[in-house]
Amino acid sequence: MFNLVVFQKDSVKDIPLQKSDSLENLVKIEEKSVWDEPISKPVRAPKEEWAVDVDINHPVHDFYKRIPDMAYKWPFELDVFQKQSILRLENHDSVFVAAHTSAGKTVVAEYAIALSLKNMTKTVYTSPIKALSNQKYRDFKHTFGDVGLITGDVQINQTASCLIMTTEILRSMLYNGSDVIRDLEWVIFDEVHYINDAERGVVWEEVLIMLPQHVNIILLSATVPNTLEFAAWIGRTKRKKIYVVSTTKRPVPLEHYLYTGNSGKTSNELFMIVDKHSQFLTLGYNKALNAKKERASKSSQSFGPKGPKGGNPLQDKNVWISVIDMLKKKDKLPVVAFTFSKRKIDENARNLSSMDLTTQKEKSEIHIFLHNAIKKLKAPDQQLPQVVQMEGYLKNGIGVHHSGILPILKEVVEMLFGKGLVKILFATETFAMGVNMPARTVVFDSIRKHDGTNFRDLLPGEYIQMAGRAGRRGLDTTGTVIVLCKGDVPEMSELHKMMLGKPTKLESQFRLTYSMILNLLRVEQLRVEDMMKRSFSEFHQQKDLGKYKEKMEKLHTRISQIENIVCFLCSVDLEKYYETCRDYGSLKKHLQEVVLSHPAAIKCMTAGRVVIIDNNTHKYVLGVVLNSSVGRNKERNFTCLVICDKNKSDSVQDKSGSENKKSEQSEDLVMPVRKRQLYLPEGVPWHELVQVKSGDISTVTTKVVKVEADKVIDNVKKRQIPRFKDDPPSQSVSVTTQELLRITESNPDGLDGLDPLKDLHLRDIELVEQFRSLKMIEDGLSKYQCINCPRFDEHFREHSRNMKLRDEYKHLKFLLSDESLTLLPEYQQRVQVLKALNYIDDNNTVQLKGRVACEISNHELMITELVFENVLTELHPTEIAALLSCVVFEQKKCSEPNLIDTLQEGKNRILEIAGRISDLQRQCGMELAGDYEEEFKFGLMEVVFEWARGMPFADITNLTDVQEGIIVRCIQRLHETLRDVRNAARIIGDPILYQKMEEASHMIKRDIVFAASLYTQ
Ligand SMILES: Nc1ncnc2c1ncn2[C@@H]1O[C@H](COP(=O)(O)OP(=O)(O)OP(=O)(O)O)[C@@H](O)[C@H]1O
Ligand SMILES: [Mg+2]
Ligand SMILES: [Zn+2]
Repeated sequence: MFNLVVFQKDSVKDIPLQKSDSLENLVKIEEKSVWDEPISKPVRAPKEEWAVDVDINHPVHDFYKRIPDMAYKWPFELDVFQKQSILRLENHDSVFVAAHTSAGKTVVAEYAIALSLKNMTKTVYTSPIKALSNQKYRDFKHTFGDVGLITGDVQINQTASCLIMTTEILRSMLYNGSDVIRDLEWVIFDEVHYINDAERGVVWEEVLIMLPQHVNIILLSATVPNTLEFAAWIGRTKRKKIYVVSTTKRPVPLEHYLYTGNSGKTSNELFMIVDKHSQFLTLGYNKALNAKKERASKSSQSFGPKGPKGGNPLQDKNVWISVIDMLKKKDKLPVVAFTFSKRKIDENARNLSSMDLTTQKEKSEIHIFLHNAIKKLKAPDQQLPQVVQMEGYLKNGIGVHHSGILPILKEVVEMLFGKGLVKILFATETFAMGVNMPARTVVFDSIRKHDGTNFRDLLPGEYIQMAGRAGRRGLDTTGTVIVLCKGDVPEMSELHKMMLGKPTKLESQFRLTYSMILNLLRVEQLRVEDMMKRSFSEFHQQKDLGKYKEKMEKLHTRISQIENIVCFLCSVDLEKYYETCRDYGSLKKHLQEVVLSHPAAIKCMTAGRVVIIDNNTHKYVLGVVLNSSVGRNKERNFTCLVICDKNKSDSVQDKSGSENKKSEQSEDLVMPVRKRQLYLPEGVPWHELVQVKSGDISTVTTKVVKVEADKVIDNVKKRQIPRFKDDPPSQSVSVTTQELLRITESNPDGLDGLDPLKDLHLRDIELVEQFRSLKMIEDGLSKYQCINCPRFDEHFREHSRNMKLRDEYKHLKFLLSDESLTLLPEYQQRVQVLKALNYIDDNNTVQLKGRVACEISNHELMITELVFENVLTELHPTEIAALLSCVVFEQKKCSEPNLIDTLQEGKNRILEIAGRISDLQRQCGMELAGDYEEEFKFGLMEVVFEWARGMPFADITNLTDVQEGIIVRCIQRLHETLRDVRNAARIIGDPILYQKMEEASHMIKRDIVFAASLYTQ
């Protein structure tokens, strides 16, 4: 007899099983690179308990006993969730607090600040938006005194023990190893659900991953459904427990209404549809529906068949006037009216110019406040049309708040709203974020918004956040939320979902950026691979590493116990034969999928087509197609009736029995290719309804039978209901089953399939080629020796099983390696780009260009190229400013600027460089979502040019249709970019460019564009 050592050695060549310590080695290396755990600690964590769910139903009666000397005290009694959080903070633990808008999450942040003041350590508070940072600066400074603020363009008291900054600033501090980090005790992430932001979310992940071990973390977020999962990720990444304090309680409960009125007469048409206990009231909904219907039929009598729909400005105006009248009468002001387009907001405010909601005394208060706020502006700026117009609105108690409004005016509006002087505020969604500006009532102008790509209904999370602005703590017993029905009443199911549905999960938006790669390569404290591994998106995979390792150990033992198959005949070529069968199987499956997605084949796959199904649960079974559908990812699903064994199909109903059988059947081993016998039930022939995909169909036969497909499906489904379980099958089912049985019996060796070339007329060369090779493989199989072995089936199966173990082992090994990281290919592609552009050398060492790019926070490649190609040095500072506006301006559509020749040339250079970079990225295999050239927006070049040359702001606004607030924001961000370029000039030692950048900064930094925030004064 012949020993089969040869074939075993060969097939495991990349698993050196002989060395018994190999597995441990592998595991150890992984451990180290994954977590760089100090050697002293046990490698395996006790269990996945990084997230600890805190029971907030548990009142802390002994709270004051446990903390007799609180670091900070509030004038109100704390809620349980606040007490529970503070207890953890006292313990130096990290917390994740998820609670509704206005629940009082800031208390937790404040306590941490107070603690660190007491301990002489530092706290960093980060927020996603500058406006929120400014407000928190004012509040915290008022409370604690020693507070600083660092944003892109403002630095106040940078050595304070509590620093407020944007998340981006914290990130660059971490990359640059700032001193601030050393003494840091707490980092507070406010509005951390911002991690879902496609553009900026990755910054939160970077910061959370890079924060050093000694820093404690406080995460504050709106209510989200996966708090524990998110906390487990952070806990695991930071190797510290995260206490999750999550509450859905609202301090002031909400009542939700539909409003259908549109005139003084109908202004009482307000219908409650969700009460303060979150019960949906169908009755209220129907009333709204009826009110709307009645009006429609009345107006169709008087205006003909076309009833009034929404969207007509005059009718919109009437709706608003009537709803405000009603709210005023019911004493439900102030109101925040969320409106999702700037144009619409302006229109609404204009429409209400006749409304006067303030007293004489209030008017004068507003006047004084506004003029005090803008008195530092230049005289002409105080007379800007937007300022004058806003003053008109405000005096009547109406406010407008969106990104087109000058930042200083936005702040005036916020502060007047805070004082209760703005009675109705038209605002976009940003107003719902973080700012503590509650109203008595929230009104939704519409529940549809444009999300950058599409119009869609509000998501539950968005609605909840905005609606949560209703109800002022201590002032109102309930908050009122009103959805205006200007057009039709929205569908009940939509409203139900939006008002009571689950908010959006926290999800990773992790992506690679050049700046991330360069910074990591430069500082070397963390590998880029490790950054990817620790990202929230890889968390689930990484979380399972421990399990994988265990599985691998078990597999290892089993593989090492495999005994050689001792067989003379099989030793010759069983291994080859096995491989051939395996390849044959996968090629056939692939071809079947391709063919069956072809229109010609789809035409054949209609009801009545007889097919042979071959998958894990049905082995070579005859069936008939009843219908087909296209599922998600465009995959075609077929519903078929197949024959089976009555007793076996009964046991499928019985759960426990079927599980067993399934696992046995679905062993999913490679099967030898040969003539097979169609499945014929041994017991009572029966039928079963199955859903299959193209890959499950082994043969599309030439046969078609008559079948009443719908009736068959209905009948089988009906008998799946327990009550009808014992009913006999209908005529249509029995006939079809009988027919399938008859065909099986008369064709035990299977049936001819449709020929893709002859019958379906497929002409695709590649496909034809593949069919030919399939046929060749099939023909070649009869030449093997092993098939003559009398115990061939047994030996093949054994080998098949062994191979499966090895494949599993290989797969696990892959999962444990860097190669399995989803983003690894993209990382390699980006590295290739960086090499081609000389930002890094062949050893991935960061070069001068790469160091420059690290300084640039926006469009690092483009700006670095511009610097190194001397595009900027040749220009005048005003021109440099104008040109660089294209990396900070974001508006898609606006009026065309007039450009002088040098600027037009500069623009062409930028487009040319963009084209080159984009070609290079493509060559390196990167798939880019949009056109890279499109990322640069030149619409404000003329504006910035003239602004830098000293044109007054009032005149600037005549050059473009871009709104004032957007212009200001763009120039403010441009200032940051100019500073980045100046730093780049310093690094490369270009004094001329350095000088020019200084000048450019100086030229744009003036007047209303850089008026200091009212919150920081
Ligand atoms: N236990 C309490 N009792 C009474 N008032 C409280 C309590 N806790 C907080 N407040 C008050 O509630 C208001 C809202 O609190 P806060 O701004 O902290 O809400 P938030 O949870 O941060 O909401 P957002 O999601 O809008 O950021 C504040 O005016 C605060 O002083
Ligand atoms: Mg808050
Ligand atoms: Zn054999």
